[in-house]
Amino acid sequence: MGMRETIDQLRETLEQELNKTDSKQALENLRVRILGKKGELTALLRGMGTLPPEERPAAGQLINTAREKFTAMLEARQDAVRMMERAAALQAETIDVTEPVPPLPLGSAHPVNLVMNEMIDCFTGMGFEVVEGPEVELDHFNFELMNIPKNHPARDAQDTFYVDDNIVLRTHTSPIQARTMLSRKPPIRVVCPGRVFRADEADATHSPVFHQMEGLVVDKDVTMADLRGTLNAFAERIYGKGITTRFRPSFFPFTEPSTEVDLTCAACHGKGCRVCKGTGWIEVLGGGMVNPHVLEMCGIDPTVYSGFAFGIGLERIAMQRYGIPDLRLLYEGDVRFLGQFR
Ligand code: DAH
Repeated sequence: MGMRETIDQLRETLEQELNKTDSKQALENLRVRILGKKGELTALLRGMGTLPPEERPAAGQLINTAREKFTAMLEARQDAVRMMERAAALQAETIDVTEPVPPLPLGSAHPVNLVMNEMIDCFTGMGFEVVEGPEVELDHFNFELMNIPKNHPARDAQDTFYVDDNIVLRTHTSPIQARTMLSRKPPIRVVCPGRVFRADEADATHSPVFHQMEGLVVDKDVTMADLRGTLNAFAERIYGKGITTRFRPSFFPFTEPSTEVDLTCAACHGKGCRVCKGTGWIEVLGGGMVNPHVLEMCGIDPTVYSGFAFGIGLERIAMQRYGIPDLRLLYEGDVRFLGQFR
């Protein structure tokens, strides 16, 4: 068979094979088979040595033309294959956006967060700003500036987690009072929600981690009546109309005078029931007038300014509000429990 026939045959083969190739890989295999180093056309080129010298130029010409032609054929098919692959990919990736899907399970806000958010709403509505402080706190802020010096008995009452001699996990949100007074000038009106820590054994009413919200107002002529009015508004907003406060004398190192604050029992509206043990009142928070010594230590002149402060335990509010009988339920992360607060 002459060179021309061989090449014609090769072209025919290529044509047939090309029509069957439908992937880049198959196309590449075909290219190697014909045009590659050990390919069939390349073999022809190698075989030229056996031809008589006068036939070689014409043969060489034929082979080169064929190579160009074959390359063009391969490239043309390559474009077609690329289009086919693209069309197939698009087909495979088609999404039916109208197809119904099973609903995703919805999470729910934690009851402590629900209460916290509601209280933030309530206080920001009265012109308070929300500020936060560090959970790992200096002894200086947690105790010293709150008028609880070393060896003060109040330090024992608050079973503190010490990181070292000077650093504690804050035992209350009160240190944010000091941080706020040191960093801004009156008028100050802030609430400070956050996590606090005490070395308590977990039981139905205790947890080593819980939440408080601190409130602080410092301005000229702030009085205990302002504290009362603020907390009455808070009581009605959180527990409903007719709920009010009762102040009982108390003691905190950072307030003078200090008060324990009870709210009308929301379960019986003050008539007396099991929840309030017949008293009609529920103890909810502590507060008082900021101790002048605290103002002074925090760079505020107590002869010009006065302030009130309060601290509220959020778990206690959440438990009363939602009738949760055991504090531990709030921390066990049981979805059957948490899912009820949707
Ligand atoms: N820090 C107190 C506690 O953890 C709560 C408290 C009481 C905060 C009176 C206050 C306050 O700001 O005036 O028990």
